[in-house]
Amino acid sequence: MGNDWWRTAAIYQVYVRSFADSNGDGIGDLGGVRDKLGHLADLGVDAVWLTPFYASPMADGGYDVADYRTVDPLFGDLTEAEALVREAHERGLRVLVDLVPNHTSSRHEWFVEALEAGPGSAARARYHFRDGRDGGPPNDWESVFGGPAWTQVADGQWYLHLFDPAQPDLNWDNPEVRAEFDDILRFWLDRGVDGFRVDVAHGMIKAHGLPDAGCTDQASLLTTRELPYFDQDGVHEIYRAWRKILDSYPGERIGVAEAWVPSADRLARYVRSDELHQAFNFHYVEATWSAAGFREVIDASLAAVSGVDAPSTWVLSNHDIQRHVTRYGGGELGLRRARAAALLTMALPGSVYVYQGEELGLPEVTDLPDEVLTDPVWERSGHTDRGRDGCRVPLPWSGGEPPFGFGGPAWLPQPAEWAAYTAEAQRDDPGSMLTLYRRALRLRRDLPRTGLRWLEPGARTPSGTDADEQVLAFGRGADFTCTVNFSSEPVTLPAPGRLILGSLPESEFTAVPGTAGAGHGTHGDGERVTVPPNSAAWWSGDVHG
Ligand code: NOJ
Ligand code: CA
Repeated sequence: MGNDWWRTAAIYQVYVRSFADSNGDGIGDLGGVRDKLGHLADLGVDAVWLTPFYASPMADGGYDVADYRTVDPLFGDLTEAEALVREAHERGLRVLVDLVPNHTSSRHEWFVEALEAGPGSAARARYHFRDGRDGGPPNDWESVFGGPAWTQVADGQWYLHLFDPAQPDLNWDNPEVRAEFDDILRFWLDRGVDGFRVDVAHGMIKAHGLPDAGCTDQASLLTTRELPYFDQDGVHEIYRAWRKILDSYPGERIGVAEAWVPSADRLARYVRSDELHQAFNFHYVEATWSAAGFREVIDASLAAVSGVDAPSTWVLSNHDIQRHVTRYGGGELGLRRARAAALLTMALPGSVYVYQGEELGLPEVTDLPDEVLTDPVWERSGHTDRGRDGCRVPLPWSGGEPPFGFGGPAWLPQPAEWAAYTAEAQRDDPGSMLTLYRRALRLRRDLPRTGLRWLEPGARTPSGTDADEQVLAFGRGADFTCTVNFSSEPVTLPAPGRLILGSLPESEFTAVPGTAGAGHGTHGDGERVTVPPNSAAWWSGDVHG
């Protein structure tokens, strides 16, 4: 395990309760992850990030932690967690765990104590308790899940929760809170974990005096404007302290920020050399399917990290957002674009995240019955937002009917059509999404470590019109080119070299008759190839030879 592994790592996100169920209760667990380490090693990823498996009432899928040092019996126990870390390491996989420092569960002993202790107590000072204003909450802040960010308790005071009322926000100006989390970090580092994904990394510090936001529909503004409870400068001091702890352990332990901030430049502040190592690039998630959209976000992302000596990350999906097959149009079109997006993403310099099931090409499940929805967003939005359950449906592993080898009857129902998406059905199919991911992740390991340079694709439609604005082409090193055709038409390009890997079968990337052997190189003459619509390809060689 070499140094700086995280600069180019492919990190696989395991949403534990939907990954694999080892004891037949229909809920994924740590034993299930242990059982499937072979799948992950075979896929070719470098590390696994496990979503929270700590003691929790599960008001928000475990992002409501009641005890940070205990494994919830739903998921296993501490011995199981230690075995998982050890076995992952034996297979050459690193393990990141989720750290939830912005809020605890309302059943955490600190919050229980705070409710009992009453106004003005030291126990309340670990959270944000305030008196109300004009009979209502202390300010106009809204919960990300809908409704006000404040809930009133029996004695009349209000407490802040940027998420569900079952997730009270901690007061990070309180030294006791800081000391407690230093200790939690050490607890897991001592158990061999390779680092942390930091939940709501942009949220721990609130603007002094808790001023009004002055606007409504605040949740929709997460990546567009400043809010008094997000991305405050004070959070960085916390990361500087944590970096010292991470660096005090051997073997490059890392921190990854989940930070929803207005720009790539703001994001880069979380990964300055004395802070965290990576930050999720949600601006990449938000890019719409177009050459210009992707080029812009790629440029902005790379420019932002160039000043801070950190890698960019590339994220297509996670457990909070609609799966990208569906975002890109769904059905055959969505799958085809998702295949292209996978090759584009894995060709970029930096670290890539794979959300469980994207290697199977899973779509979002958009028709879950109302009565099975568990995401607090569904209730908090007054049943106007169906929430995030549709991207959390348990994985199909094998067999022809639910639960598809997941374990017991899955806690969210799996669509019958998923028989075609199982890992088993895809394993030996050369045209499957799983095969594409395996090949790409393997080849990616040998990509040049250099940055990216954009190339003039020299794309034309069959009728001869220029189509460069619908095609991206970039090189890395002297001998690698990636091309992406975002359009719904085939285009021809000057042959970029030998096809290493295409998002579609090789036979679809054809030489244009009459151009073969005419020599490489000059834009517009020489050998041309046809690249199919909504496709990407990796080539050995430059567009301009
Ligand atoms: C981000 C997590 O990814 C999400 O699932 C959770 O609901 C919120 N943070 C609150 O912890
Ligand atoms: Ca289970």
